[in-house]
Amino acid sequence: MSLKRKIEDLIKRREQAQQGGGDEANSKQAQLGKLGARERIIALLDRGTFQEYDLFVEHDARDFDMGKKILHGDGVVTGTGKMGGKPVCIYAQDFTVAGGSLGLMHARKITKIMDHAIKMKVPLIGINDSGGARVQEGVNSLAGYGEIFYRNTLASGFIPQISVILGPCAGGAVYSPALTDYVFVVDKISKMFITGPEVIKTVLGEEISMEDLGGARVHCETAGNAHFFAESELECFDQIKNLLSYIPHNNTEKALISEYTEPDASYKMGEIIPSDPKMPYDVRNVIKGLTDGSKFFEIQEMWASNIVIGFGRIHGTTIGFVANQPAVMAGVLDIDSSDKAARFIRYCDAFNIPIVTLVDLPGYLPGIDQEHGGVIRHGAKVLYAYSEATVPKITVILRKAYGGGYIAMSSRHLQADFVFAWPGAEIAVMGPEGAANIIFRKEITTAENPEEMRQRKIQEYKEKFANPYVAAAKGYIDSVIEPDETRHFIAHAIEVSGNKEVFHPKKKHGIPPF
Ligand code: HXC
Repeated sequence: MSLKRKIEDLIKRREQAQQGGGDEANSKQAQLGKLGARERIIALLDRGTFQEYDLFVEHDARDFDMGKKILHGDGVVTGTGKMGGKPVCIYAQDFTVAGGSLGLMHARKITKIMDHAIKMKVPLIGINDSGGARVQEGVNSLAGYGEIFYRNTLASGFIPQISVILGPCAGGAVYSPALTDYVFVVDKISKMFITGPEVIKTVLGEEISMEDLGGARVHCETAGNAHFFAESELECFDQIKNLLSYIPHNNTEKALISEYTEPDASYKMGEIIPSDPKMPYDVRNVIKGLTDGSKFFEIQEMWASNIVIGFGRIHGTTIGFVANQPAVMAGVLDIDSSDKAARFIRYCDAFNIPIVTLVDLPGYLPGIDQEHGGVIRHGAKVLYAYSEATVPKITVILRKAYGGGYIAMSSRHLQADFVFAWPGAEIAVMGPEGAANIIFRKEITTAENPEEMRQRKIQEYKEKFANPYVAAAKGYIDSVIEPDETRHFIAHAIEVSGNKEVFHPKKKHGIPPF
């Protein structure tokens, strides 16, 4: 055969392999409002940068008539490309080929591109659309998953790992996304569960739809497994591009410094917080009053929203913001918000992103559900994550900082580098009402007019402790600042912390309260 004929043959083979599961399966995929595996990759990456590998990989299963089945690319597309001009590794499962089910060679393609990502120190993006372990391949499929999970763990904190759920992600398959940094889901398309509705019906006799069991909203609002919710696949891809623009592409780099504009003048810092400490407000307005162009990229917006986490920039530098949200449950720390904050703090620390913490909370949430649910263990994660983090840590106490909440929210005592407080800050063991009831109980109960006495004592306590100056007098706060000065103080703190280095005792690793 001449070279020309061989090239023609190659082109024909490529076209065949790129058909995926064929016309019927492809049109079923389209009817469900889903893009194909290659279409997804092309839509996500910079134009013309996708390079596919292992197109001709074949499965080698023989049981259950598998020997007769041709599965193009073994149900997964893998390759490299660029996003925002920087290299990434990517794979996308192809549901049109045997339901995107994971057999041994399918897994080998994924682990090969994961190994590339680790060696080349570039982000890994995995698009999941699969019926899970390929039933016909038995233990080989399980082996494949195990090898993926192992690499997810190796890569954790080394390169960013992004999971995109664009179809079913069933059975043990869910544990790969769960081991990665960010999980993106799309309304009506993403379905993620360990045991499906049929198993639940058989075992528990309960009926539930796949959407109610593990749809996109469930994972964003209730379970907290997903970090970003989109209405469409294209919106989801924009979110991923946005995320990658904020973060460094491996743990030896810092995020790119961007050109910047000042925050929008409509965010008047001195007017956002009501003077009554019991009145709520949206802390995201404080964040937007601090960030370049008032842009804030929120993470896990729909879950545990009593704490707000996400990225913004100050003077072009990416900052990880952690802020109590007084508009939701007064901004208390509880089981879910502790988990949410602690994981994000560890992410920022792993990827050299300075952390700015905005504090306004009455403390940890009291209650039997919280105690029995393990709020002690979960709450400890916040203490652990802040104490362990060695990136620059800047804290601004906006209003209330009571009790354990004061300590946990990146206090000086957990080695925050800079602690600032607004003049209305109240730093105390507990709120003035509770404190007065405890320490002046005798005076209040024996007074001629107990209520009048209580109010007087509350006022007395407030004047003594509910201000930032007692903490400032001890050096626990570095400066009491005007709200309008906050951006300047943070920018300066970041600038002078560029060479920060911290020495910890030598050990293999700590034992965080997982
Ligand atoms: C082999 C599979 C498969 C699987 C789907 N297919 N899942 N083949 N192994 N796990 C095949 C189907 O047989 C079908 O092939 C094609 O993919 C399309 O599937 P449909 O069922 O027609 O599609 P749909 O109606 O859209 O339903 C999708 C689905 C359903 C909900 C995902 O296929 C399903 O429930 N699959 C099983 C899900 C599951 O329980 N997985 C867990 C496996 S155990 P044909 O030839 O007919 O087109 C597991 C444990 C791993 O994952 C543990 C690791 C630690």
